[in-house]
Amino acid sequence: MLQYFDPRKDYGTPASLSEKLVTLEIDGVETCVPEGTSVMRAAALMDINIPKLCATDNLEAYGSCRLCAVQIEGRRGTPASCTTPAEQGMKVWTQNEKLAKLRRNIMELYISDHPLDCLTCPANGDCELQDMAGAVGLREVRYGFDGENHLDAPKDTSNPYFTFDASKCIVCSRCVRACEEVQGTFALTIDGRGFDSKVAAGQNESFLDSECVSCGACVQACPTATLSENSIIELGQPEHSVVTTCAYCGVGCSFRAEMKGDQLVRMVPDKGGDANHGHSCVKGRFAFGYATHNDRIKTPMIRDSIDQPWKEVGWEEAISFAANRLKSIQSEHGRESIGGITSSRCTNEETYLVQKLIRAAFGNNNTDTCARVCHSPTGYGLKQTLGESAGTQTFDSIMKSDCVLVIGANPTDAHPVFGSMMRRRLREGASLIVADPREIDLLKTPHLGNALHLPLRPGSNVAMVNALAHVVITEGLEDTDFIAKRCETDAYNKWRAFISEKRNSPEEVEEITGVSAKAVREAARNFAKAPNAAIYYGLGVTEHSQGSTMVMGIANLALATGNIGRDGVGVNPLRGQNNVQGSCDMGSFPHELPGYQHVSDPIARGRFEAAWGVSLDDEPGLRIPNMFDAAIAGQFRALYVQGEDIAQSDPNTQHVEAALKALDCLIVQDIFLNETAKFAHVLLPGSSFLEKNGTFTNAERRINRVRKVMPAVAGKEDWEVTVDLANALGYPMSYNHPSEIMDEIASLAPSFAGVSYEKLDKHGSLQWPCNDQFPDGSPIMHMESFPMPEGKGHFAITEFVPTTERANRKFPLLLTTGRILSQYNVGAQTRRTDNQAWHDEDILELHPHDAEERGISDGDWLGITSRAGHTVLRARISVRMQPGVVYTTFHHPGSGANVITTNNSDWATNCPEYKVTAVQVEKVSQPSEWQKDFVANHQRQHKFLAEATVAAASEE
Ligand code: SF4
Ligand code: SF4
Ligand code: SF4
Ligand code: FES
Repeated sequence: MLQYFDPRKDYGTPASLSEKLVTLEIDGVETCVPEGTSVMRAAALMDINIPKLCATDNLEAYGSCRLCAVQIEGRRGTPASCTTPAEQGMKVWTQNEKLAKLRRNIMELYISDHPLDCLTCPANGDCELQDMAGAVGLREVRYGFDGENHLDAPKDTSNPYFTFDASKCIVCSRCVRACEEVQGTFALTIDGRGFDSKVAAGQNESFLDSECVSCGACVQACPTATLSENSIIELGQPEHSVVTTCAYCGVGCSFRAEMKGDQLVRMVPDKGGDANHGHSCVKGRFAFGYATHNDRIKTPMIRDSIDQPWKEVGWEEAISFAANRLKSIQSEHGRESIGGITSSRCTNEETYLVQKLIRAAFGNNNTDTCARVCHSPTGYGLKQTLGESAGTQTFDSIMKSDCVLVIGANPTDAHPVFGSMMRRRLREGASLIVADPREIDLLKTPHLGNALHLPLRPGSNVAMVNALAHVVITEGLEDTDFIAKRCETDAYNKWRAFISEKRNSPEEVEEITGVSAKAVREAARNFAKAPNAAIYYGLGVTEHSQGSTMVMGIANLALATGNIGRDGVGVNPLRGQNNVQGSCDMGSFPHELPGYQHVSDPIARGRFEAAWGVSLDDEPGLRIPNMFDAAIAGQFRALYVQGEDIAQSDPNTQHVEAALKALDCLIVQDIFLNETAKFAHVLLPGSSFLEKNGTFTNAERRINRVRKVMPAVAGKEDWEVTVDLANALGYPMSYNHPSEIMDEIASLAPSFAGVSYEKLDKHGSLQWPCNDQFPDGSPIMHMESFPMPEGKGHFAITEFVPTTERANRKFPLLLTTGRILSQYNVGAQTRRTDNQAWHDEDILELHPHDAEERGISDGDWLGITSRAGHTVLRARISVRMQPGVVYTTFHHPGSGANVITTNNSDWATNCPEYKVTAVQVEKVSQPSEWQKDFVANHQRQHKFLAEATVAAASEE
């Protein structure tokens, strides 16, 4: 029988991956399914939908409700179809009088202990219990409602986003299993036995006090209204939905934005999403309230000086004010005196247009992107070794890994949905190696098997990766076949001689890394001997003075062990922001046109010149740090910043602020008055991801559609504003829809040649390269060859050079920074949501030993001083830290985390060395001078904003 697979349908139990097929008969119709498929799923694939309550197809079958009973020829009784595998020759009946009676009895028991408030229940219309009562034809409840019941069980409303109403619970355990199997947190249990059994969070705590991370998997799994989103309770059921992509992190989860008119009611992770397969984290699932927050900038604003109040104006006036300023600055100070910064939060199409505006309308290559401060070393390092500036795998690939090496990344906080997938693989038995100064949560994965933590000192990454490779080579663990077939011989021989030197041995580098040679040797052996070993890394690799060297060191290790070019292996940069891969792909860097084509390449440049109708500069333009330096020197006078908050996110805040204050014209396009906008002369309202069409490209090179679900609050999508600015500058741009921008990208960037909105809509998503050679995209890269001379991988020499940022007597501690699950980067979005419940201030974590030495207790105010500056944060004493290393996040602008980070940067790309700052800490009683100035300027700028609104209202 022909089976049509609908990715959004619930087939009751997970798919079997077996390649062997079995043939069986269900209700007299023959069907064929992979061995191991449940009878329930086999039937559902034929559109025979057996009633069920405790089964759902993202959880292993549990067999508790018995509603799915069937009859099978030759078998006694009525087995549960969800736990019974289909077998060759089986004959199954899913409907008959006996089964109908049995199911009605089961439903009768459930309903006798369930509130009969269906008409006023938030799940009315979306309740599986209600559906099943209808499906089995329940007409009466003979047991009555007067017996012992749970109808008065209390509600838990502690979580800001969902409510647990225990009176509606049928104890099906779907929530418990979702928390274990899908999310991997194990926050829920069924407490008690028989009639007394109930769902409990943590140690019988409230959801908020338990280890629950508010991912929403239990809410989604619950077949009743026991676990319900508060937005559904308040607003009722949605009436239509649109599939779009989360705008937070580089996982790129697909969601159904469920709507009532133009009001967003809830975000439901899309089962058909190729990156997330129906899972989500607290940010994408719940933290969307910022989009309709009162702080949204809804009207364009201009002013002559940053010491003046804003003036609200129409779009036309704002655009012409900005264009005139840019033109007059260029005529006075030269073509190179202006530039722009694209954003990894914006769509590919918007980013493409901003760099086009800069190159074609500004007439220079002064374009850069926030990827400069996160993954620019990935672009450089992978291009040098593997030939392509991108990760090599799909997320799903991890399910075939036997050993997972995580370096400088914290996936459960920063890439939570992928972190859950990683945890699932680790529970299944893959071994784990974590190279990180902190004991990250992944190391505390419940049911984790073989795991090693290499708690290296910040700044010693390259010494560590060299030592790992040294063990591989000197112990004869390399993959000689792979190296011979797939790698360039000369480069390999040179690298082999270098890496074999004794100075790269674990014993010799022990002093530098602080990690025992024994542990490093064990890790290297585990990695090299695993059939499939994969490397995942994050900003703990790139944000160093040797970030690019470390990326090349990682590629060397993967090449030497033959872990490239198939499922389960690879080099995988965990890209931070939603579209950091895309913003790099789209030509945001000053030296590269879209598709990583160098500006000095005359053939590539010629194609862009022909398409854009201008001649283009063949010299790379300024990088962000160069723009700041040139602004302070008076040579760089105007900047257009779309969707990036450089004043908060870039290092050495005082230097950045000095640069911004020196500009004659700063144009900021953003959804809020962010820290950068406080220094702006033109403020153009941005549009949130809910208000526009476009695409994001996630960390696996997956291009996902972003679809507009509500009108842009200020009437324009971001790409339309860039088009207007280009036209006002005299460079004509004209597009009717972002799909036309994508068509232009496809015509100019070879790896996007096969991408179109039509194809994206058909496939759901596409992983680049997507062109004539790979018409359906490329899930795994470098399967046959590398895009390098002769198609060979290139080993690079990775000499360890210690950073100049070292601890000494004056600054004896090393500060490293990172993210936390509930907040996102500069926090502009998440700080304007109920995620504040989990993290409403940045805190300095330090080891008890360092705290005791300084007489510091938990909660004390600490002054943190570095060579760059001074700020004040509250203390948290934590054994997650190693002695000598302190840690903070940077989500709250008033914390001034970047006041203390320095101007040190990666030698190849200028990516800042956020991860190593030598500091001293001491108890203090008041905020730093910078923090006092920050508060004063914050109040002043918000007063300017409020005055503009009042003035505009009085004019109306
Ligand atoms: S929200 Fe997520 S973490 Fe919390 S209990 Fe539910 S499944 Fe577990
Ligand atoms: S809360 Fe929902 S999913 Fe969990 S046991 Fe109760 S009814 Fe089942
Ligand atoms: S994991 Fe990332 S993309 Fe997915 S929902 Fe969370 S923030 Fe969004
Ligand atoms: S759905 Fe099969 S036993 Fe509950």
